[in-house]
Formats: sequence, structure tokens, C-alpha cells
Amino acid sequence: MIEVRDIYYCEKCGNVVEVLNSKAPALVCCGQKMIKLEAKTEDASNEKHVPYIEETENGILVKVGKETNHPMIENHYIKFIEVITKDKVYRKDLNPGDAPQAEFPIKKEEVISAREWCNLHGLWES
Ligand SMILES: [Fe+2]
Repeated sequence: MIEVRDIYYCEKCGNVVEVLNSKAPALVCCGQKMIKLEAKTEDASNEKHVPYIEETENGILVKVGKETNHPMIENHYIKFIEVITKDKVYRKDLNPGDAPQAEFPIKKEEVISAREWCNLHGLWES
């Protein structure tokens, strides 16, 4: 079942979409069903993907990689970092060369979840 905030991926063309309203039984792209991305919550390897939240003067800073930054190179990078609150979604789009982090003007207590999508390793959530 498709739900609001779910993220889907097209295995053929690489499109990634987030559901804003849920009505259809399935999402289709390139003539085939899109795959629902299941967020991973624990890093098994040395490379860190689970979003880490720090409080700042202006709100929160969400980092990908607590001690070491996740790579941000052309073929391996964090495409976006997103924070979900009770009734809002904050998202920062990133590009190769950017720092793998995003600051949002909200209190840490408001955060229900933080997630990010790595173009090679998928969706991660804390
Ligand atoms: Fe990665």
C-alpha cells in the first residue's frame, strides 16, 4: 500500500519520487512498477549513512557521517537530506562537492525522523 512520505525508485531510469497524496494502488515509471525504498537504520560497514542530528544556534544540523563525512563525488553522493515533523517536511537537495549536511530552523524535539538518500546505497533514516 502506498502511503504519504513513501519514496519510490524506478529501476530502469533512476527516477526517485516521494508520495504527497496516496490514491493509486501502484506507481509506474518506464512501463514498470516502481520499487518502494525501505529506509535502513543501521550501518553495517565503515561508511556511515544514518543521519546524525546536532543542535545549533538556529535549529538543527543533520549530518551524514558523524566522525567522517560521507563522500560527495560525482558517482557517489547524498542527493538529499530530509527532516519530517508532525506536519512539515524540510528537504535540502545536495550536489557533488557540497558538504553532506543540512541545517533546518526547527527544534530537535519537533523531529519525527531524518532521512537521506545516497545514490549508491539507498535510503537511510534515524
Ligand atoms: Fe553511500
